[in-house]
Order: sequence, then structure tokens, then C-alpha cells
Amino acid sequence: MEIMSDILSAELFLPRIAAAADDAALDALEQELFGRKSGVLTMAMKDLPALDPEARKAKAAELNVAKKALEEAFAAKRKTLSAAALGALAQTDALDVTLNLPAKPAGHLHLIPEFIREVEQVFSRMGFVSASGPEVETESNNFNLLNIPPEHAARDAQDSFWVKSGKESKERLVLRTHTSPVQIRFMQSHKPPFRAIFPGKVYRKDADATHSPMFHQFEGLMVGTDVSLANMKAVMITAIRELIDPEAEFRFRTGYFPFVEPGLEVDMRWRGDESKSREGKWLEVVGCGMVHPNVLKNCGIDPEVYQGFAFGFGIERMIMIKHQIPDLRAFYDGDPRFLQQF
Ligand code: DAH
Repeated sequence: MEIMSDILSAELFLPRIAAAADDAALDALEQELFGRKSGVLTMAMKDLPALDPEARKAKAAELNVAKKALEEAFAAKRKTLSAAALGALAQTDALDVTLNLPAKPAGHLHLIPEFIREVEQVFSRMGFVSASGPEVETESNNFNLLNIPPEHAARDAQDSFWVKSGKESKERLVLRTHTSPVQIRFMQSHKPPFRAIFPGKVYRKDADATHSPMFHQFEGLMVGTDVSLANMKAVMITAIRELIDPEAEFRFRTGYFPFVEPGLEVDMRWRGDESKSREGKWLEVVGCGMVHPNVLKNCGIDPEVYQGFAFGFGIERMIMIKHQIPDLRAFYDGDPRFLQQF
């Protein structure tokens, strides 16, 4: 059999490779050239030993050059075909799940729950656990057991949201007006010594720039055999400095709350433009004091053995001072232009 010229084989096949329509056509061509039994190039190689040494060497070199050129042509054509196939895919199926898309903007906590988490962290470092109670409370937990007398203004329908009437104060239900009833629940179910905070929502019939019918407080309670007013001041000052600012300005003054004796109020100084604070330069943020012996007794704790302090912070007010927010209603408007700043 005449040995096919390398040049001829390359010249014949190169245009056919270039013209192949798809992978299957390329496979067939490859078989025709390199097939083990009857491939044109395979046969040419097989015939080499029949030649005399000089001619064999020359022919082998030529065949190798042709083989290389053909292999390169196949590889190049396969690349072009697969790129075209991808291009076609992009036309017929536009969804490319392997594409790296820009990250979706994620939301974040509203500044009130975010602040409550900070409160829990700061107080847990001082040994306080966090607990919660229901927002619908009995009149007795919200008022009576806290030593709040029946004639107290907070019991008035003008000031509180009553949910259910009844004969007994244990049956009458109210949206809790403060987080203080959680003190009662906690003291009735725990043995001193303990330290706890109770964050949550409270409800009052109030609405203006510094009052909302729903707002947040966190209550604190520490009871033991040797808990003093000095301990209370240390805890409050540490909390205010850590939560608001190490330089925060505040003042303690006496105040009256039926469930503590003595009672104190802590005001914080409005930071920034005073004309922007509707309440003037001092804003009351917390009431506190030594737990009244009647309250301890109401919860089965002997006031001769134990004493303790309690406090109730207004969360919105603290955040207002921290971020110089003049109107508390901005917290609940849900305006992203406000919320995204924090
Ligand atoms: N419950 C009071 C209020 O809502 C705040 C308060 C004052 C809580 C004194 C306390 C306290 O625990 O000792 O106005």
C-alpha cells in the first residue's frame, strides 16, 4: 500500500476538521485518522518498518509533523465548538446559577432590641440573669403586691389599659404599666440571694414627643443579706457609663415610688442642642431604690434577713440621649431613612 503523504493527509483533513459541525463529526474524523485498526495515520505508521532506514527516518519525521498539526487542529476546533455551545446556552437558558451575584443587602435589628441585647450583656457581666414576664398582668401583680395603694393615679382608667374586669384584683387584668410586676413573679419563684433584670414592653395611655402608649423598660432586682444603696449606685453608674457613654452626665435625686424606700430618680443630661430636647436639659431615665419591706413580705421574703434594691430604666429615653433623637415616635414610624442610621 502506498504510504500516504503527511502533507496530503494534513491538507485533506485540516479543512474537514475546520468544517466539522459538532463534536460527533469531530469524533468520526478522529476515528478516520487515528483509529487503531484502519486510521489513515495509524496505517501510515504501520507501514514504516517496510521502508529502508533512510526513507523510514524521513517519513517518520514528516508523519510526526502532520500528526501534531492535526491534533492541534482538533483541540482548537473542540474549543470553538464548546464556546459556541455555551453562547447558545446563554441564549436559551439565561439563568446561570454559577454566577457570583452581588450580596443581597441584609437587614439588622431595630435599635430597641439591639439595645436590649447590650443591656443583657452589660448586666450579665455584673452577675445579673435576664428573665421576662407577661405583658397582660393581674392587677395584683401590677399594683397591689408592689405596695401601690388603691387610690394611686396609675390605677385610673385614664392612665392604664384595662383588659378584663372582675371581683378580685387577681382576676382583673391590665396591660402592665411597668416591668416592676416581674419583680413579684421572680421573688415568688426564687430564693435570695439573686440578681436579675427584666426587659420588655409596657403600656400607658400617653402620647407625645417623649411618651408613647407602648414603650420599653428594663427592671433590675438584687436581693441578698448585705445589699446596700451604695451597691445600687455603683451598679447604676456602671450601667449608664457602659450603655450610653463613659462621660455621660447624670444626677441622683430623691423620688417617690411606693415599692421602694428610700426611692431615687436618675436624670441624664441631654447631649447636644438643648432646644432639640422637648423636656429640657435633664431627662428622667430611671427610678430606683431599696425594695420596700412590704413588697418583700408580699413575696414571702423576710425583710429582717434580706434587703435589696430595684430599678426601672426607660429604654427609649436612654437611646434618645445616646443618639440625640428628639422625638420618641421615630422609633415606631418604621421609616427606613431613620432606622438605617443605626
Ligand atoms: N416602675 C417605675 C415606673 O415605671 C420605675 C421604677 C421606679 C422601677 C423605682 C423600680 C424602682 O424598680 O425601684 O415608673
